[in-house]
Amino acid sequence: MMVLQEIINNYRATGELSHEEIVFLLGLEKPDEVGGLLALANEVREKHLGPDVHLRGIIEFSNHCVRRCVYCGLCYGNRELKRYRMHPHEILDTAAGAVEMGFRTIVLQSGEDFHYTNDMIAYLVAAVKKMGAAVTLSLGDRPQAAYTSWKAAGADRYLLKFETSDTLLYRQLHPESTLARRLKNLTYLRDLGYQLGSGNMVGLPGQTITSLANDILLMKELSLDMAGIGPFLPHPATPLGKARAGTMEMTLKVLAVTRLLLPRTHLPATTALGSVQEDGRRAGLLAGANVLMLNLTPVKYRALYDIYPAKAEATSKPQQLKEEAEKLVDELGRRVSSGYGHAVKIEYQ
Ligand code: 5AD
Repeated sequence: MMVLQEIINNYRATGELSHEEIVFLLGLEKPDEVGGLLALANEVREKHLGPDVHLRGIIEFSNHCVRRCVYCGLCYGNRELKRYRMHPHEILDTAAGAVEMGFRTIVLQSGEDFHYTNDMIAYLVAAVKKMGAAVTLSLGDRPQAAYTSWKAAGADRYLLKFETSDTLLYRQLHPESTLARRLKNLTYLRDLGYQLGSGNMVGLPGQTITSLANDILLMKELSLDMAGIGPFLPHPATPLGKARAGTMEMTLKVLAVTRLLLPRTHLPATTALGSVQEDGRRAGLLAGANVLMLNLTPVKYRALYDIYPAKAEATSKPQQLKEEAEKLVDELGRRVSSGYGHAVKIEYQ
């Protein structure tokens, strides 16, 4: 029989956890034991990364998408959604405003929208870099030539979640694609020199604790620079509309165990976590997270980037979001980082 204390002692000595031990930790339910796990993750975060919290500004510049991911409100099949595209000038104005406000990283995210050519994206990347910010792209599966040209244009990071490490579940959720293809793209991005972000969703229909343990081990195997971990939230206009949502508790356990195994990886307290429960992001920051991604999309488009329902930050202006984030960080006795928040291995070189 496994004993919690032994697992923890062993982890403290080796920094390792076996698959079986991860499953055991994710299965904890007693509040004091779960609390102990989250507190340990918080301790590991403090030891390796200190009090710094990195703020990233995300611009969701188009909600058009060619894909039919069955959990996502932006999926091609959702004919009810009004679609928008921001003009490149509008994207750059938004980015310039964010840089002026002090954001050091701009995340450009959209559905898989081929309206923006590779050259247009490269132009946006170069222009934002010139403003003095680091650039993260989150544009899905793209041809390798696109990844190459955006890196050449100066993009620093790419965020491409694998969502689930279960091959069959991946296929069910993404009818036109495979986990193998996603992993190939992740490897390709890493080889091109991007700082690599990926991650999963927690509480997907059909997902087990064993599968979540595999997700965590995959994040380790990929030695991710950033890992986004958020609860699945059913969107009524999708085939999974009536499924059950992932819970905050399980999401926090996954986040915490990930922190134990990836002590220096940037882990955001995700918007989805803040959407499942009001204090979700605070709880995330206390369970191993060290990043907040703030939504800088112009308010008139915000509700249309309808990935899942009741998204947090639906109407607040960037300045207000930043002040709220700073207040939260301050209340926790932490500090907002003034650096770019590059991957730690790179920053410490
Ligand atoms: N619930 C939670 N997260 C979702 N995402 C997409 N749809 C949902 C949903 N219904 C997440 C995916 C994707 C990111 C942009 O949003 O993890 O990578």
